[in-house]
Amino acid sequence: MKSNIIEFEKFQIKTSKDVFSPREDVEIFPKAIKEFIKEKNNILELGTGTGAISISLAKNFKNVKILATDINSSALKIAKHNSKVNGVDKKIDFKKSNWFSCVDEEKYDFIITNPPYLSKKNSIFYTELSDPDNSLYAKNNGLDDIFKIIKNGVNYLSKNSYIVIEHSHNQTLILKNYSRKFNLRLIESKKDSLGLNRVSIFSNQI
Ligand SMILES: C[S@@+](CC[C@H](N)C(=O)[O-])C[C@H]1O[C@@H](n2cnc3c(N)ncnc32)[C@H](O)[C@@H]1O
Repeated sequence: MKSNIIEFEKFQIKTSKDVFSPREDVEIFPKAIKEFIKEKNNILELGTGTGAISISLAKNFKNVKILATDINSSALKIAKHNSKVNGVDKKIDFKKSNWFSCVDEEKYDFIITNPPYLSKKNSIFYTELSDPDNSLYAKNNGLDDIFKIIKNGVNYLSKNSYIVIEHSHNQTLILKNYSRKFNLRLIESKKDSLGLNRVSIFSNQI
């Protein structure tokens, strides 16, 4: 397995051709969560890839407890390695799971995810991307996985908690409307370096 070392925030992350390589925009996640974390600390990350987001949270927040999942065994192997090298392996459990299929029915304060959200119909525009297809593309115009995560995620949320999702800017309104069906409210969308909505924070707060 050919691997590479990249800098994420200020720490090092091993990547490989079999695993999605974290982009700078993924750094929005820890920043977004910082505002809401307060005393809350039980986090579920779905689709962790190299583990970069969970590792960043574990490094930044003293008391967090994280379950990080992925369907890709190569990703989990690399993520475990990265968590060890970065000294946070005691704070993160890794588990193979198809979204919620192997997640225990526990309640989480944050469910965070950067799932596949591109539409295969537009793949002609993404020919330069070398990440595995199943880390990039989702059915139903890129919405299928996000919809599954919102629909099932509400059952795993503690009271007054959050689902934080990376998505495409043109999916914002669709997700705002979809999440309302499950009594979630779009609190805020954080913008990427191009000024486009990239990470949205939904809450079940009443
Ligand atoms: C866009 S990548 C994000 C990786 C990492 N969170 C990051 O931001 O660098 C999407 C991740 O979701 C994982 N994934 C795709 N389908 C999945 C599924 N059904 N269940 C769990 N994880 C899945 C992929 O293997 C990939 O690691």
